[in-house]
Amino acid sequence: MAKVAIIYYSQTGTTFQLAQAIEEGAKDAGAETRLLKVKETAPDEAVEKNEGWKKQRDETSEIKEATNDDLEWADAIIFGTPTRYGLPSSQLKNFMDQTGGLWAKGALINKIGSSFTSAATAHGGQEATILAINTAFYHWGMLIVSPGYADPIQFQSGNPYGVSFTSNNGQLDPDETALAAARFQGKRVTEVTQQFINGKK
Ligand SMILES: Cc1cc2nc3c(=O)[nH]c(=O)nc-3n(C[C@H](O)[C@H](O)[C@H](O)COP(=O)(O)O)c2cc1C
Repeated sequence: MAKVAIIYYSQTGTTFQLAQAIEEGAKDAGAETRLLKVKETAPDEAVEKNEGWKKQRDETSEIKEATNDDLEWADAIIFGTPTRYGLPSSQLKNFMDQTGGLWAKGALINKIGSSFTSAATAHGGQEATILAINTAFYHWGMLIVSPGYADPIQFQSGNPYGVSFTSNNGQLDPDETALAAARFQGKRVTEVTQQFINGKK
């Protein structure tokens, strides 16, 4: 059974909803999953001042925070983050920057990696954010599995790099096309990971 960790940051819930749909797709394809958030690093005062941010923090308080043990456990790691000036959020980056010990012992080599995002605007840096995450996967010796155009839903959602949704600053929830593309990404990562595990045997 492929072990898939979906690790995300979400300030106002858009990326979180994509993460949930990715987990659904992975589970349906037979994966054992962990849906985990990264640690909030912004000060409480900043969160308290923003209704959407506060709501997301409170509604996901039960979701566990990811640790390096989760990365070691997983056969496949799927990272998600909102776009921040065309880059991943510092919260996700903070988590990634604590993996030096794993990198040093080669613990991430040959794991499968995939990534996703959401942004306010259609050309606001969705591919750039995904590619920035994937750069770390190269350093870790991982194998990147993108959704490509490997399913008809990809011709509707239109992002072969990874699922993304244009949220108008967190005001729009992911639509059915984005959720279906997210489920497909979870399914594809699971299936390729399973094939890779079986092949190794
Ligand atoms: C500091 C900051 C920087 C942002 N930079 C961008 C950007 O470069 N391009 C863009 O389209 N949206 C940008 N956004 C908007 C978010 O990426 C967008 O609202 C996203 O869908 C939020 O996801 P979430 O609901 O999971 O937090 C930015 C938001 C913040 C707070």
